[in-house]
Amino acid sequence: MFEEAQYFAPVATQDDGSVVVELASGHPGFADAVYRNRRNAIAALALGHKPGEPIPHAEYTDEEHHVWALVTQELAVKHGKYAVREFIDAAARLGLPVERIPQLQEVSDLLKPITGFGYLPAAGLVPLREFYSVLADGLFHSTQYIRHHSVPFYTPEPDIVHEVIGHANTLASPRFAELYRLAGRAARRVETDEALEFVSKVFWFTLEFGVMREDGESKAYGAGILSSSGEIEEFRGMDIRPLELAAMGTTHYDITKYQEVLFEAESFDHLEDVVGTFWDTCDDDSIARLAASR
Ligand SMILES: [Fe+2]
Repeated sequence: MFEEAQYFAPVATQDDGSVVVELASGHPGFADAVYRNRRNAIAALALGHKPGEPIPHAEYTDEEHHVWALVTQELAVKHGKYAVREFIDAAARLGLPVERIPQLQEVSDLLKPITGFGYLPAAGLVPLREFYSVLADGLFHSTQYIRHHSVPFYTPEPDIVHEVIGHANTLASPRFAELYRLAGRAARRVETDEALEFVSKVFWFTLEFGVMREDGESKAYGAGILSSSGEIEEFRGMDIRPLELAAMGTTHYDITKYQEVLFEAESFDHLEDVVGTFWDTCDDDSIARLAASR
């Protein structure tokens, strides 16, 4: 079973129609009834959203806006040190608010004129095939909740900090946005679950946790690294391997820890040549051959 399913809190609709986000007992917001109510309300917004309608407005507290401001500030400094230039330029182009959490509709409206990408609200886990295939249409599923304010620099699940600071800034780069689209087309083309998992693992080790050589150093471009103030300080000490499709598509990973194995592109051109071309051309047979070559 593909493990991504484990790290989103499950969302259930009760018999009376109410929506409940089932936070695990170790979740920082588990004992905070006010936070849990907000999580339920935000999940219900996404479940009630109809394609083509504006993304519903999510309510946040002042404490939550403060978390955003803190994390944004901290990450901006770290991006200057550790992020690839393409990301830094794209973030400057997008111009996300720094003092408050942006609404997803606002993020979409900022992105659209730049690369055509838009956001869709997600209550929690989106089925793999759906998540990836709509990337081909320039659509990105995103959660709207933010981590619990008691631990501003930690989240056990992807929150709006990850989805927007990590992904929206990246999606404001035409080169990265094209890679996201190509991943989407690949997900739409492949038929077997094995091939889809391979495509998604290549995504994981590149657009989520990829690193790249730049000016003689390892720089990060993966949204997972760029949205984590802890992981961004650690990635250079990990087991960094050459960019290789068969390895990325078959390497096991544990989403609950910092990624210990990373794959490094020699340059942006190299990433596009290897991974862009793969997503552009792969099918079930070519993926089965790659997987068997390991
Ligand atoms: Fe992500």
